[in-house]
This record gives sequence, structure tokens and C-alpha cells, in this order.
Amino acid sequence: MALAAVHLLAAALYFGGTLTLGATVLPAFRGELDAGRRATLARILRVAHPVSLACLGVLVLTGAGGVTALKGAYGGQFAARWFGPLALKLLLVFVLLLVASYEYFGLGLRLTRAAAREAAGEGGLASGVHARLVARLQTAALANGLLGAAASVLGLLLTRG
Ligand code: HEM
Repeated sequence: MALAAVHLLAAALYFGGTLTLGATVLPAFRGELDAGRRATLARILRVAHPVSLACLGVLVLTGAGGVTALKGAYGGQFAARWFGPLALKLLLVFVLLLVASYEYFGLGLRLTRAAAREAAGEGGLASGVHARLVARLQTAALANGLLGAAASVLGLLLTRG
């Protein structure tokens, strides 16, 4: 019960966070930006990405606990009853984790490190490259919003039996 509540809270925080970032925050940072706005974006990403990554860690751990609980409740009937929705959910979550890794480490780190270099008076990213990275970041965040929504629907199906 407590595990399911933590899973639900982490799902809400992750889903809300990634959609907010993709649909409302990042659109304000599209196109060519001055150094001040790049630094602001980097500050937002330094908070948003670790929080989002922590939510995913909690989701994987509490989700695994949920699978164990379902196995306990359904015994020999577990595979016959749950294989379809659970396999689909795990596949979606696997893709979500790949996209999230690209978002945090392939795109986010490049943007935050470039902003730190710029603040130290060294060269940052060319503005075309910066704009492309932000556009990809937005696509990744929105794609994970959709994948998170699908994983949540399947999760509700698993919970309701
Ligand atoms: C490896 C990762 C994951 C596993 C193994 C997993 C597994 C599960 C299981 C077994 C349940 C049913 C829990 C129960 O009956 O007590 C569940 C519920 C749920 N899951 Fe996941 N899950 C994972 C990741 C995610 C992600 C990434 C999201 C969304 C962003 C998500 C959203 C939900 C939601 C909304 C529920 C319904 C909770 C409720 O109504 O109490 N899960 N999950």
C-alpha cells in the first residue's frame, strides 16, 4: 500500500514535471538566446533533471516491489493474468529510460556545462547549436510525457486488476 502510494506520487511528479518542462518552460527558451537567458535555462535544468531522474529511480524500485506484490497475490495465475499489460508497460518504461538518459546526459549536460564555461569567460556553444539542443530537449521531454502517460494508464490497469 505504502509502496503503491510512493509509486503514484513519483509518477505524478515525473509526469507533471516532464510535461511542464516540455510544454511550458522550454518553449520560452527556443531560438537564439543571450548569455543571461542561457544561464537561466541551465539553472532550471540543474534542478529539473536531477529531480526527474530521482523520480525515475523511485518508480523503478517501487514498481519492482509492485510486481512482487502482484506475484504474491496471483500465484500460479500471475503470468497468464498479467504478462500482456506488464510486458507492454516494461517495454514502454525501457524506451522512456533511454529517452530520459539522452535528455539528461546527451543534451542537458551539454547545455549546463556550456553555460558554466560561458560564465567563466570561456567560449560557450554557437547559438545555432544551442537552439538545436533546446529543440531536441523539448522533443525528448514531450515524448517522455506521452510514454509516462501510457505507462500510467497501464499501471492503473494493473492496480485495478
Ligand atoms: C520499471 C518501472 C516500473 C514498474 C516495474 C512498474 C510497475 C507497476 C506495477 C506492478 C503497478 C501496480 C501496483 C499495484 O497494484 O500495487 C504500477 C502502477 C502504476 N504505475 Fe508503474 N511501474 C514502473 C514505472 C512507472 C512509470 C515510469 C510510470 C509513470 C510515469 C508509472 C505509473 C504508474 C501508475 C500511475 C500506477 C497506478 C498506481 C495506483 O493507482 O496506485 N509506473 N506500476
